[in-house]
Amino acid sequence: MAILRLPGLIDVHVHLREPGGEQKEDLTSGSAAALAGGVTMLLDMPNTHPPLVDAQTFDHKFALIGRKALCDVGLYVGATETNALQAAALAPRAVGLKIYLDQTYGPLRMRDLTAMLSHFRDWPEERPIAVHAEGLSMAMAIGLARIFGKRLHLCHVSRADEMALIRAAKGSGMQLTCEVTPHHLFLTEADARRLGPYGSMKPPLASEADRNALWRHLDLIDCIATDHAPHTHAEKRGEEPPPGVPGLETMLPLLWTAVSEGRLTEERLVELTHHNPKRIFHLPIQPETWVELDPRVQAVLSEETLHTRCHWTPFEGMRVRGQVRRVVLRGQTVFEDGRVRAEPGVGRAIQPE
Ligand code: DOR
Ligand code: ZN
Ligand code: ZN
Repeated sequence: MAILRLPGLIDVHVHLREPGGEQKEDLTSGSAAALAGGVTMLLDMPNTHPPLVDAQTFDHKFALIGRKALCDVGLYVGATETNALQAAALAPRAVGLKIYLDQTYGPLRMRDLTAMLSHFRDWPEERPIAVHAEGLSMAMAIGLARIFGKRLHLCHVSRADEMALIRAAKGSGMQLTCEVTPHHLFLTEADARRLGPYGSMKPPLASEADRNALWRHLDLIDCIATDHAPHTHAEKRGEEPPPGVPGLETMLPLLWTAVSEGRLTEERLVELTHHNPKRIFHLPIQPETWVELDPRVQAVLSEETLHTRCHWTPFEGMRVRGQVRRVVLRGQTVFEDGRVRAEPGVGRAIQPE
C-alpha cells in the first residue's frame, strides 16, 4: 500500500500547560508533539495556573500562541462560580466553555448550582459547552443543556453506563456530541494496576466491559480526542501523583492499528479526528494541510521517540502499525521522518467561525 494522505488531525482536548505548568509542557513542546502525531490543530483546556477564566488571562495566552506554537491552537474559556458574564463575553473568540463537574487536576471545579444556571443561561447557544462530567454528573449536565437549549459536548466518555445515557439522550433528539480518548479505547483497569501513577487519569481506566462498550457503540461517538495531559516523572513519582497521561503522539498509530485490524474504517477515522471536530467547534479550514502516513510500517511505541516534554507514554511497548512520515501545514513541511521542521510562530491562534 502506498503512502496515504489524511487531512490534518484536529484534537479537541489537549492540556498544553502554559502558563504555570511549563515543566510539564509548553506551547512549543506540546505543539511539536501534536505535529509528530499528525495533529495540525488542537483545542487547549483552561485549567492552567492561573486558569483561563477572564479576558486578561485569555488575551495573554492568545498572544503567546502566535509567538510559540508550531501548530494551530484554539482556546476554551473555563467556568468559575463567578464568571458567567465574563465567559460569555469571550464566546466569539473561545472555541467553547469548559465546565469541570468532578474533581480533577487544577483549580477549576464547579460546585454551585446558581453559578451553573448562570453559565447555562448566559453562554450563547451556537457554541458548545464542554463538560468534564462522570456518571451522574453527566446526566445532570445533559438535563441542564436540555432545559436551556444549549449545545453540550461530553468530554472523555469512558463507561458503558455513560454510553447508555448518551444513546437515550441522542435518541430523544438532543443536539449532543461526545468524545472518547485513545487510552479509554486501548487500555483498561488492568493496565492501570500495571502502570501505577502512569496509568492514572480522570476519568480512570475502566473495565474490559466498559472498553468493549465504547468500541461496540462507536456509532454514538463524534470525536476521538487525546486529553493529552502531561505531568513530569517527578510529579508522577511524588506523594500525590496528579492524574493525566500524554497522548498526542500515539493516537494516530493506535487508531491506524485498529484500521489495519478491521475495527475501524479509514473513512470513520477521518470523520472522528477531522470532519466532526471541525463541524462541532466551527473551526476554520487549514488550506494545503495534510498528513502523510505510511500504513505498512510496524513499530513499538516508545518514550525514546517522543517530543512531549514529559517524555513518557502509558502505551510504552505496544505494537502498532502506521507511521507519520510527513506533515504539511499551509504548504510548509512542518514534520518529516521523526523531526519537527517548524519554527515557533508557524502556528496560529484560531477563533471559531
Ligand atoms: O486526568 C486528567 N488530567 N483529567 C483531567 O480532567 C485533567 C487532566 C489534567 O489537566 O492533568
Ligand atoms: Zn477532563
Ligand atoms: Zn482534560
